[in-house]
Amino acid sequence: MKGVILAGGNGTRLMPLTAVTNKILLPVYNQPMIYYTIQMMAEAGISEVLIVTGGKTAGEATRILGDGSQFGLSRLYYTLQEQAAGISHALSLAEQFAGGDNLFVMLGDNLVFGSQVSRAVRDFANVERGAKVFLKNVPDPQRFGIAETDGGRIVSIEEKPRQPKSNLAVTGLYLYDRTVFDRIRQLKPSARGELEVTDLNRLYLKDAQLGYEMLHGDWIDAGTFDSLLNASHLARQASLRSQNTLEVAA
Ligand code: G1P
Repeated sequence: MKGVILAGGNGTRLMPLTAVTNKILLPVYNQPMIYYTIQMMAEAGISEVLIVTGGKTAGEATRILGDGSQFGLSRLYYTLQEQAAGISHALSLAEQFAGGDNLFVMLGDNLVFGSQVSRAVRDFANVERGAKVFLKNVPDPQRFGIAETDGGRIVSIEEKPRQPKSNLAVTGLYLYDRTVFDRIRQLKPSARGELEVTDLNRLYLKDAQLGYEMLHGDWIDAGTFDSLLNASHLARQASLRSQNTLEVAA
């Protein structure tokens, strides 16, 4: 099982902050944004992680993150998405790195606090076929990929629907088997010219190979000013909770 963090794109929604540095290095409470994602990978027992980054400031990530040893990883790899061609395109760049292993994929601007994702990731390590997504109830479903479920199964997924069929957002955490790259090769660019992750998940759904879990704990897509601010509040609460736990244990 290997990890891939997708952080391509130019971060235009967060300009001018993203003129200062790469989106994944922006501060979220007391750490750069990407630290949370890498820590989550390490916690889930993943030791090799590839970061797909992009934009003019992509090189800064290597300066800050180095070889990944500060996070307990055995190795951190980097590659560049030259143009913002979509999440599935960014993932296609991980094919050689994956080498036929299952993947835990996270979007670099997705932050999760106090969840049980690690267990799901470990359970998926030996899965032969399929994919899994993590769903979260949201008040603003027009902003996300939205899943409709029935009897414990996903029946449809739509990307940022005008009239959402549910409030269940498909969060930016995904588990994929080794067929993911063949499936990406079948994708066609969407109306906005990108290879969409929602279309990739739909290919698994068509083959009845898309499972899901509800995501417990707090989740945030820190891609806008308000959600970035909110991410700092959530990170602070999580940090205070873990300090309290440490004090009680001591
Ligand atoms: C992307 C995906 C969307 C998903 C979201 C989660 O949207 O396309 O399906 O729900 O991430 O953060 P973006 O935020 O890149 O517009």
